[in-house]
Amino acid sequence: VTNMKRKDALLLPEIAKTCYDKSWFTYGQYCMPEEGVKLTPKSELLTAQEIITLARLFVKEGVDKIRLTGGEPLIRPDVVDIVAIDEDYYFNGRIWKTFTVFSKGISKALVCRTDLFIGEKGQLYKLEGLKTIAVTTNGINLTRLLPRLKEAGLNAINISLDTLVPAKFEFIVRRKGFHKVMEGIHKATELGYHPVKVNCVVMRGLNEDELLDFVDFTKDLPLDVRFIEYMPFDGNKWNFKKMVSYKEMLDTIKQRWPELEKLPCETSSTAKSYKVPHFQGQISFITSMSEHFCGSCNRLRITADGNLKVCLFGNSEVSLRDHLRSGASEEELVQIIGAAVGRKKKQHAEPALMSFPLCQDALQSPPNSKQW
Ligand code: GTP
Ligand code: 5AD
Repeated sequence: VTNMKRKDALLLPEIAKTCYDKSWFTYGQYCMPEEGVKLTPKSELLTAQEIITLARLFVKEGVDKIRLTGGEPLIRPDVVDIVAIDEDYYFNGRIWKTFTVFSKGISKALVCRTDLFIGEKGQLYKLEGLKTIAVTTNGINLTRLLPRLKEAGLNAINISLDTLVPAKFEFIVRRKGFHKVMEGIHKATELGYHPVKVNCVVMRGLNEDELLDFVDFTKDLPLDVRFIEYMPFDGNKWNFKKMVSYKEMLDTIKQRWPELEKLPCETSSTAKSYKVPHFQGQISFITSMSEHFCGSCNRLRITADGNLKVCLFGNSEVSLRDHLRSGASEEELVQIIGAAVGRKKKQHAEPALMSFPLCQDALQSPPNSKQW
């Protein structure tokens, strides 16, 4: 997480002009408050070792998929280590890292410097029972880190990309990097990540005119482009008129592709998937607003500073970091986590979602984006 500046401070003048002309400024920084967020002091963040300790505990209790997400996980300097590291090892006054290398069935400890080390299958990878190590990333650092992350055992990648128009990308992300993201997507497919999931939050007046371009993007690449209903988070200026519903997106796409096929999906999936026959990839919809999936939600979240959240929209339940640092035993931690999970509500408490059915009339007559 980085401190954000004023909404147009990072824009090149020519891009800023396009943004004003196209009324894109009716959108704030959509996934965080416009005024930015305070940087959390490093001492309050979970260390790589604490992340691994918690991961080990969750996997022991039956979790089989871990996602490193954000903010942006790939700006964390130790991200490869979190996937790959064994433990800190002090030698000659320096911190080294130890790795266990398996050769011909014999396990031996190898000492080497992390910054030079390009991983054996790593620490998360070695947790027995963990089937998937995933990241959700903005994709900007992906091409550079991907070979090392793959070697460390990363096996699923979701990339946030809300537009295929480079100027609009710079507006949304507040920086250059569109071509790096595209390179990252291609690289990931070349390295065998199938499908690479592309998350596209659809916002009226900003990118809803790109739905069909995103569908075309799945023609020759093994992608799963996921159209996400725009959700309200603290300070992100959400407004139901800016939200494009699943039904509306599907109607638009079916007008162009009437032969769109519905695909079966896992009950705990956040997405409903479809495919244009003969396209390599597929498209999906994440319908958190119009058709929530709380009933089958099996996700837990740990914030960067160690709070457990049992719902994406809920407040943090309990600080696992504080319990870890005050020496709680494994049994105590399991109990604390179990109690929090027991308090998980039947449906998420997002007020805008509660009133969603009342919005139906307004949604049927979409506003002119210049009015709001
Ligand atoms: P997969 O496991 O690969 O399907 O990824 P994911 O959808 O769980 O995670 P990702 O980080 O790619 O998130 C994609 C979108 O789904 C984001 O807009 C999330 O906010 C939304 N999402 C993820 N988990 C939840 C959840 O538990 N509840 C709700 N309502 N939305 C979620
Ligand atoms: N509504 C829906 N999805 C969002 N994301 C971030 N903010 C929102 C929002 N307000 C998505 C990002 C990223 C994923 C982790 O969450 O696009 O891919």
